[in-house]
Amino acid sequence: VIIDVKGRMVLDSRGNPTVEATVLLEDGSMGTAAVPSGASTGTREALELRDNGKEFGGKGVDKAVANINEALAEVVIGMDAYDQAGIDMAMIEADGTENKSKLGANAILAVSLAVAHAAAKSLGLPLFAYLGGVQGKVLPIPLMNVINGGVHADSGLDFQEFMIVPAGFDNYSDALRAGAEVYQVLKSVLKKQGYRIAVGDEGGFAPTLPNHKAALQVLVEAIQTAGYEPGKQVFLALDAAASEFYDGTSYKYEGKQLSSKDMLAVYEEMVSQYPIISIEDGMAEQDKEGWKLITQSLGSKVLLVGDDVFVTNPAIFTKGVEDGIANAILIKLNQIGTLTETLDVIRTAHLVGYRCIISHRSGETEDTTISHLAVATNAGFIKTGAPARSERVAKYNELLRIQEYLGDSAVYFGKVFPWWKAV
Ligand code: PGA
Ligand code: ZN
Repeated sequence: VIIDVKGRMVLDSRGNPTVEATVLLEDGSMGTAAVPSGASTGTREALELRDNGKEFGGKGVDKAVANINEALAEVVIGMDAYDQAGIDMAMIEADGTENKSKLGANAILAVSLAVAHAAAKSLGLPLFAYLGGVQGKVLPIPLMNVINGGVHADSGLDFQEFMIVPAGFDNYSDALRAGAEVYQVLKSVLKKQGYRIAVGDEGGFAPTLPNHKAALQVLVEAIQTAGYEPGKQVFLALDAAASEFYDGTSYKYEGKQLSSKDMLAVYEEMVSQYPIISIEDGMAEQDKEGWKLITQSLGSKVLLVGDDVFVTNPAIFTKGVEDGIANAILIKLNQIGTLTETLDVIRTAHLVGYRCIISHRSGETEDTTISHLAVATNAGFIKTGAPARSERVAKYNELLRIQEYLGDSAVYFGKVFPWWKAV
């Protein structure tokens, strides 16, 4: 039984305020969780409540913290911490709005996750085992964002993320090592070619490369120089975050105005020339026709991941499935605002044959809940930035601990996922 709830402000990786909550149970168990914050947000995400006052350039979270300490505490104190769904539904009801705009999705999610952490503690279980029971055993393939563009860096690249995907390994720790090695080699390759090696919001480099293909090229070179085989051991993935360069009718890509069809041709060529296994938000969230085109053309070849277009929302996702959009969904807890709704959308996705990629946000904290969520749900994929900067590495490191805890029963998804079908 929950006897106390406390909210507080903490800073995220960009130095902006975010919300953290601690939940205390009658048996003395405590759970704490902090929520992340995005920059290239989908328009239909649940509302992140900000003060819009003088402090922190308007980004203060005093109201959200007060909502935790008052309204939400009142709802959850006295409830059974094992009743995650009941608690989440009660908070949704107390908020009463479609997009959690009264109490704030940041406030609600912090409490939702802190409850799960406290419940796991009280059972003496790691969070992934509490959430996944005896089923959660799959260590996810990491999608590591090593070149940053879009709104995450000033590299001038239109695409937001160029990722390396160390899938072709027997276990997670070997995959992580390969990712980290390629990252270090990439740094020296970029340096040698005269590019700056400053990093973007997610720890990836932000070189001012002449065009997008040059980014793919330098990644292939780094993979090879690190001693790995591109397209066999280490693959590539993109998050175009295309909503950010779509004006309602065309895409502003490499200085040109492109139609959805032209944009598709860009991806088709990239997929034919490089070992790309995943494209996220290749089309803008408003461009449903573009999404249908890309799904028809590339849906049998690569993962087409819906982020802005689905916003981890069960209803929006179900509609997208009906429309034949994408074949995978990015899962961001704070896009929807409760653990229960997130688990719902993951379950639905798996039932209809869509892959799930559990994701961080560009503004992160040291919280490692997503590592546990990935294993608990056997999602098979996690996207949590470069293998550098502590807020990103915290997630990768937690997966090492989970792998150790699982021992022989751990399964690395890269070992069982049929890449030969995907590329
Ligand atoms: P965001 O970026 O957290 O800034 O939204 C991540 C993504 O688009 O996947
Ligand atoms: Zn995205």
